[in-house]
Amino acid sequence: MRQSSLVVVANRLPLDDSTAPDGACEWRRSPGGLASALHAILQQTPATWVGWAGGTGEAPSLPDIGTLRIRPVGLSADELHGYYEGFANSTLWPLYHDAVEQPVFDRGWWETYRDVNRRFAEAAAEVVEPGGAVWVQDYHLQLVPQLIRELRPDVLIGFFLHVPFPPPELFMQLPRRVELLRGMLGADLVGFQRPQAAHNVAQLAVKLLGAPVTANDQITVDGRTVRTGAFPVSIDVTEMQALAARPDVRDRARQLRTDLGRPRRVLLSVDRLDYTKGIEHRLTAYSELLRDGRVKVRDTVMIQVAVPSRERVENYRVLRDRIEGEVGRINGEYGRVGETAIHYLNQPFDRADLAALYQTADVMVVTPLRDGMNLVAKEYVAARADDAGALVLSEFAGAAAELADAFLVNPHDVDGLKETLLHAMEADQRDLERRMAAMRAHLTSHDILAWARAYLTALDRTGRIAAWLRR
Ligand code: ADP
Ligand code: F6P
Repeated sequence: MRQSSLVVVANRLPLDDSTAPDGACEWRRSPGGLASALHAILQQTPATWVGWAGGTGEAPSLPDIGTLRIRPVGLSADELHGYYEGFANSTLWPLYHDAVEQPVFDRGWWETYRDVNRRFAEAAAEVVEPGGAVWVQDYHLQLVPQLIRELRPDVLIGFFLHVPFPPPELFMQLPRRVELLRGMLGADLVGFQRPQAAHNVAQLAVKLLGAPVTANDQITVDGRTVRTGAFPVSIDVTEMQALAARPDVRDRARQLRTDLGRPRRVLLSVDRLDYTKGIEHRLTAYSELLRDGRVKVRDTVMIQVAVPSRERVENYRVLRDRIEGEVGRINGEYGRVGETAIHYLNQPFDRADLAALYQTADVMVVTPLRDGMNLVAKEYVAARADDAGALVLSEFAGAAAELADAFLVNPHDVDGLKETLLHAMEADQRDLERRMAAMRAHLTSHDILAWARAYLTALDRTGRIAAWLRR
């Protein structure tokens, strides 16, 4: 068994199986923030990534990606249902996102979630070197830190939550709240996107575990000190800038504009098709602007990219039907022959196509109802080396704390959203350039590498692990 000094454990591997046009199975990069973020920094690091490769049955054997070793974990059909679709994505996901959809508390899912967490913990415990470090990611694996501690008390354990951690009164609804809290506090360092999340966890530790906490949210559990803190995740800025600068990508962006009929303005949204992303509120706002004649299909086009996600979960299927119905209604009502109101694309794109789309967009509309970070907002800023374009950004995305020069908006307030869209569409060029330049400057020094270094340096104060990351 090959062992590594750094082991990353995440639900998904950075690869997803998909079917090529000729029917063959091929592997491609997974969509979604976590895989995008970590894939960027780990491929040149002597680390192992433990995760699920998608699909059900025996884990496939997968080759290394550069120097990164891959350790797949298999899931049976029942496990996929109880662990991934059930407890992770129908209980924790909605609850952690302000319960924008009702969380489901199904007692049968808990045991599967616990068993699968144990399997991930065992795989990690097998491949980590003595005295090494294991970095566990996200809500799917919240019990893993404690389970690893039981198996390998010699290793450093980090946990990072990519999604929001809810206010205590919401977390208190969880039937298994004590186990989930204890599981996460098995880590030496628990990282979040926002400082408020760490305060929430500290409050819960006092309330549920009677644990002593300090003013800076350090928590004492079982005689150990668990450190907590905010480490806002980011993107590979250099990669996005390089893509956006490629002549073929710039040509593609120009071609896209031509294909769209050379509108005066292009609005773009890029989301996983998820009810947290605020797609319906956005469509309502846009359709009312068309209805009121404040936006004309003659000169404005909206593109909504909505990559399919968690399609076997009922809420997601229902959402997709509702969105597709609404897009059809808007196009039927306001479109003309050769003038489509909304271009709706329910498909994955490669990074170069995304970069071209970002360059085509005069207004990027990122309006989740709640989002841990939202990397799409950061990708858009990184792609705009020309300092042109406007970013409309929800106050409820973690990214809003860093991108204060965006056009910030409360997406629940449809009237406010309409005004903000118009404001962004009509803003003068100098204002746009100032905003974009400020956001780009921030991102340049706060990229994915800076995030990983900050987290890993805090986890291992000797700086040994952070030193392996590229550049
Ligand atoms: P989440 O983590 O909820 O999926 P983020 O906005 O943080 O949301 O991250 C989404 C990631 O998925 C981004 O890196 C984005 O580029 C990528 N992505 C979004 N839509 C697509 C798509 N249609 N094809 C490929 N990648 C996509
Ligand atoms: O950011 C939240 C998250 O669950 C990530 O862990 C994941 O990369 C992304 O959303 C996509 O979700 P899924 O893995 O369910 O397709």
